[in-house]
Amino acid sequence: MSKLWGGRFERETDRAVEAFTASIGVDARLWEVDIRASIAHARMLGRVGVLTSEEAQSIIAGLQAIAQDIAEGRITFNPNAEDVHTEIERLLTERIGAVAGKLHTARSRNDQVATDTRLYLREGIDALCEEILRLQEWLVNTAEQHLHTILPGFTHLQHAQPVSLAHHLMAYFWMLQRDRERLRDCRRRVNHLPLGSAALAGTSFPLDREMVAQELGFEGVCENSLDAVSDRDFVVEFLACAALVMTHLSRLAEELILWSTPEFGFVELDDSVTTGSSIMPQKKNPDVAELIRGRVGRVVGDLTGALVMLKALPLSYNRDLQEDKGFLFDALDTVRDSVALMHLMLSRAQWRTERMKQAVSGDFSNATDLADYLVRKGVPFRQAHEVVGRVVQYCLKGGRTLESLQVDELRQFSDLFDADAVQAIQPETVLQVRRTRGGTSPDAVQEQIAHARQLIGGDNH
Ligand code: ARG
Repeated sequence: MSKLWGGRFERETDRAVEAFTASIGVDARLWEVDIRASIAHARMLGRVGVLTSEEAQSIIAGLQAIAQDIAEGRITFNPNAEDVHTEIERLLTERIGAVAGKLHTARSRNDQVATDTRLYLREGIDALCEEILRLQEWLVNTAEQHLHTILPGFTHLQHAQPVSLAHHLMAYFWMLQRDRERLRDCRRRVNHLPLGSAALAGTSFPLDREMVAQELGFEGVCENSLDAVSDRDFVVEFLACAALVMTHLSRLAEELILWSTPEFGFVELDDSVTTGSSIMPQKKNPDVAELIRGRVGRVVGDLTGALVMLKALPLSYNRDLQEDKGFLFDALDTVRDSVALMHLMLSRAQWRTERMKQAVSGDFSNATDLADYLVRKGVPFRQAHEVVGRVVQYCLKGGRTLESLQVDELRQFSDLFDADAVQAIQPETVLQVRRTRGGTSPDAVQEQIAHARQLIGGDNH
């Protein structure tokens, strides 16, 4: 195949080299942003008089027609093409002839690919944020129905203190809220235009970079052409955000896996989002949750890969940079699918609230409240802790639960215990009294939910 850069070469490129250096298999998906950016570039070249307006018009019309043909499946890319940029230029030449060769005036694939990648990522971030937002909406709506659903709260995976299911679900809301904030912040730095940097040093043609930036929706132009064609920090930054989203999802996935075991029994995952076993007829496996948990490894790998690819690269463009898109696209796809599937799985889950309640009864997760009771009567907390520790030991030895003790039994440990001590350690009470802002009482969680609703109602990213 003839090369766009074939002029100075006497011998054909070795096939193995062609295959090794080609990126069309990965970057084909950039076609739409590539054409959009080329149209903006051509329009600007026409405006500043580098191209005649007829030339610009013919290029723009040709590109628009190609875009439509690709979108409607009438064009398949040559799998042996070098990359998406050369392939689209070839298609344009096929369609409009030699004038197509004027499109690449004052442009290099170096600033072209950086521009395409930023456009594609910007839209990927927006789509991902939408997906996260939908999951957050589900969390808030479901939380609101479970303000009074009590389950054990855990530390060290040991029963610690009772919390509400609402409170537990909302913890994930806030993780995802920070994820979205990080993505939005990352988007600001993605959204600058490299085009006009040309190969590395800028160009002698009188370009209007601001015009191109405006047409493509960029907030500004990259200030340094060497930096613009050779940094991929915006890719790394996105991958770091993506790795955190996956890390958060993996924690939720792990809980669904645990909670759907008979030992916990807190949740039943729907048949439509689980899979069976080829040998054990009774099985229903949480494979979706496991794959979300497992795919964190991929995205963290993408982040690591991009960082190592970038490390110690001399300025400016180097072919190493072509590898960025493999990492980027893998992460974009993986995170988006994972968020969507998490949402699907959760939206069909059955919460076993009776099991949650049973798990709290007799689990001593109200011991702190018995100590707090003594503290309110003036006992130093350390001493109260000691007293209640002995009460717990008494219960363990006698096979009793804390909330079943009578006042006279409690009084053997401290005469400050009165009848209301028994009331103070009922699970409902224990939940109700944690009214501090951010606490698990229904009132406090209701407030948390109201704040959350403001945040997701007030912005679209
Ligand atoms: N396929 C290349 C990439 O993704 C395009 C830029 C090639 N530039 C070059 N000077 N060979 O990075």
